[in-house]
Amino acid sequence: MSLSLSLLRANLGAWVVSLLILASWFGVSGSTQKIGRGYRLVAIGRSPGGEGLAGVLQVKQSTGKYGPDIRQLKFFVRHETEDRLRVYITDDDQERWEVPYDLLPRERVPQTKPASSSGSLNLPAGEFSGEKLVFTYKADPFGFTVKRKSDGQILFDTNAGAGDPYNSLVFKDQYLEISTRLPGGAAIYGLGENTQPGGIRLRPNDPYTLYTTDISAINLNMDLYGSHPFYMDLRNVNGEPSAHGVLLLNSNGMDVVYRGTSLTYKAIGGVLDFYFFSGPTPLGVVDQYTSLIGRPAPMPYWAFGLTLSPSWMDLLLSGNGIHQCRWGYQNISVVESVVEAYQKARIPLDVIWNDDDHMDAAKDFTLDPVNYPRAKLLAFLEKIHAQGMKYIVLIDPGIAVNESYGVFVRGMAADVFIKYGGKPYLAQVWPGPVYFPDFLSPSGVSWWVDEIDRFHELVPVDGLWIDMNEVSNFCTGQCEMPTAAHPCPVPNSDTPWICCLVCKNITETRWDEPPYKINASGSQVPLGFKTIATSATHYGGVLEYNAHSLYGFSQAVATRRALQGLQGKRPFILTRSTFVGSGALAAHWTGDNKGTWEDLRYSISTMLNFGIFGMPMVGSDICGFYPAPTEELCNRWIELGAFYPFSRDHSNLHSPRQELYLWDSVAASARNALGLRYRLLPYLYTLSYEAHTTGAPIARPLFFSFPNFTEAYGLSTQFLLGRGVMVSPVLEQGATAVKALFPPGTWYNLFDLRKTVSAEDGQYVTLDAPLNEINVHEARATPFTLVVAFPLGAAVGEASGGVFVDDDERPEMKLEDGQSTYATFYATLQNGTVRVWSDVAHGSFALQQELIIEKVTLVGVSGAGRGLSIELNPRSLMVEIGGLALPLGKNFSLTWR
Ligand code: NOJ
Repeated sequence: MSLSLSLLRANLGAWVVSLLILASWFGVSGSTQKIGRGYRLVAIGRSPGGEGLAGVLQVKQSTGKYGPDIRQLKFFVRHETEDRLRVYITDDDQERWEVPYDLLPRERVPQTKPASSSGSLNLPAGEFSGEKLVFTYKADPFGFTVKRKSDGQILFDTNAGAGDPYNSLVFKDQYLEISTRLPGGAAIYGLGENTQPGGIRLRPNDPYTLYTTDISAINLNMDLYGSHPFYMDLRNVNGEPSAHGVLLLNSNGMDVVYRGTSLTYKAIGGVLDFYFFSGPTPLGVVDQYTSLIGRPAPMPYWAFGLTLSPSWMDLLLSGNGIHQCRWGYQNISVVESVVEAYQKARIPLDVIWNDDDHMDAAKDFTLDPVNYPRAKLLAFLEKIHAQGMKYIVLIDPGIAVNESYGVFVRGMAADVFIKYGGKPYLAQVWPGPVYFPDFLSPSGVSWWVDEIDRFHELVPVDGLWIDMNEVSNFCTGQCEMPTAAHPCPVPNSDTPWICCLVCKNITETRWDEPPYKINASGSQVPLGFKTIATSATHYGGVLEYNAHSLYGFSQAVATRRALQGLQGKRPFILTRSTFVGSGALAAHWTGDNKGTWEDLRYSISTMLNFGIFGMPMVGSDICGFYPAPTEELCNRWIELGAFYPFSRDHSNLHSPRQELYLWDSVAASARNALGLRYRLLPYLYTLSYEAHTTGAPIARPLFFSFPNFTEAYGLSTQFLLGRGVMVSPVLEQGATAVKALFPPGTWYNLFDLRKTVSAEDGQYVTLDAPLNEINVHEARATPFTLVVAFPLGAAVGEASGGVFVDDDERPEMKLEDGQSTYATFYATLQNGTVRVWSDVAHGSFALQQELIIEKVTLVGVSGAGRGLSIELNPRSLMVEIGGLALPLGKNFSLTWR
């Protein structure tokens, strides 16, 4: 068995439609230095229309540290939905930077406020109640709490006491600080992107810095590619679990200090724009969160695995599932040979990728005329497209400065580049000197859409990979073109990432050297270190200082627009840099990891965090990006990686090749694990529909389904796919067994349903996990098996589950008459009778090829099956009823007694 166990939990009634720099600087040492004296409430009242509460705050006493305090603030509070509360605080006199409303659409804050008073009023405390949440405030010093009505829990409390190691509200132009008290046992998740050696649950006193940065994912507890100032707080009070979410919508750099019993935000600009989500279940929190920031993008079926028409069955049987990529496929023949080798090794491969190797001198939207001649590439694409395979290539944001390069010339003519001192900002990436397009500029977006359009004419790619978009620069500061004495190396030399422009640090502005220094890239370097200088400007004079962490997000918006326009299908985009809302646009991989056992483990926490961030299509470079995995590690990585929602093997130019067929043992493990992935594809696709409609992560921490089971709160070595499929991979070198935590219930091994684990109260169970083979080759085009899992031996039981089906690539992923269908399956077990029936929404949907349920497998049943021709297996209480032909899209009802 290649995967230790992948189990379906029964008493959830789950169904599978199968083929089935430790930082003492960070203020964590308990420093109680107060840098603000807080604010006093001087006016409060209902906002016009009465739906909100508006107030005015005045600073109590200004302090000089990190700049003068803003004298007067206004705030606005509104229960935007029954389970979402917004608390917004900004300068009363001047407009401040905030995440643009056209980029992340949301309700606008009304400009009106109650008349302010002299500040001498002694206003009473008060509250503002919504359907589920209550906002209460205290006037002097001003502080607020957010309470959940149903259980009276205080979810957020900004009131600072004299002994607290943080300030009450501080609001300066370049330093905003606010804290919340937390009850001791709260489990906090989120606040990334960050490689967390401590696992998914935040560890007190680990640093959390949010500022999009291209430092490799092997750097622990550092700012990384994405910025997600969102956390989920899970508590268990007297055996009652409850979760809520908190978003600080702010794109400026920030440090978040988590001390276990408090959490402090230290942002270097913007506004305090808080959204509180009442939960109380983890699924409720992500539903409420993604209803604000955008539901996860619908993904084409092929992004999970191959869609086969029956005629491709032979191909499947001979072996054709995952994404293969590598930086360093020197020419098209090498790519062809990789596809062939996969087919020969009978390892399913769905998508073949090119890094920047297809480009002419690393220039976006070009082809290398020698190594990737167009005619040869097109012939290759025709061949793999006919097999149902897809092709994706990389693009970088940096546009080569080169007068003979059309993309650059058209970009200059349309004035699309980010500027410094009135001229395009000069940087260096793979092609040498580059300018960065401004995706906040309307002409920048139009130009980008047009360039993608032109490129698609040149090469009919099926998706795009947008890399290096933090944005990554090999140089720092203000640079000039290289000179004859100091030329830039051509790409593909050994060290192309060394800056060869002539640069100087920019220290003259308060943007480049802000008064409070967040810990970006380790704090000892300027904020603009190896990215765009923070005093550079975007369209409309927007400072890079403010918009920095929005770069990858805005690029994904533009890229999605381009692909939507030209393909008429669901776009597939993979992006490295992300922000709040990126999940509605693209998939994500966790960047440059290392082929080590530690990195194998970290991949789980980062993947699970991205599910919580509303970006469920995520995975890590399988076998590691560099330097070279061992054969054993690669075995274990494909076993885990086969169950990443986004499953791709990718490696570095300087590492040895690591395609899965290169080691016999890895190939065997890949066939086994991917075989099961294939059986689970309809389930994965249905999960992606659920993600798209409710925000539910595809890969989830166990506490999503077992919030009562506190042992699982910090569990970062196992995860769930959907409600009840649990993956428990081997993560230790040399291990042939894995100690897995089982929440209460009966668990069926998905590789062999007769093998069960019964964990009455939830417990650790040691499972065999040899490095060996299992062959399971089935796919979507083969008939479905419906697995109905009851608690083992139960005399009475209920189960339900569902499957979403459409044509796999329509731009919209929704239930629509004639275009898609959702079949909900129900089952009951009572008095020795099993009844299984379906309820099909939009039964008029007709697939070109009808999907048939050929077999129903009942597991856990006791007393049922006497009338069946197949005997009940007494050990697993399993009955397989084959020879059926139930159309998936039509209602049916079956009874066995
Ligand atoms: C950085 C990306 O993280 C990596 O995946 C890619 O191979 C290189 N850029 C080269 O394009």
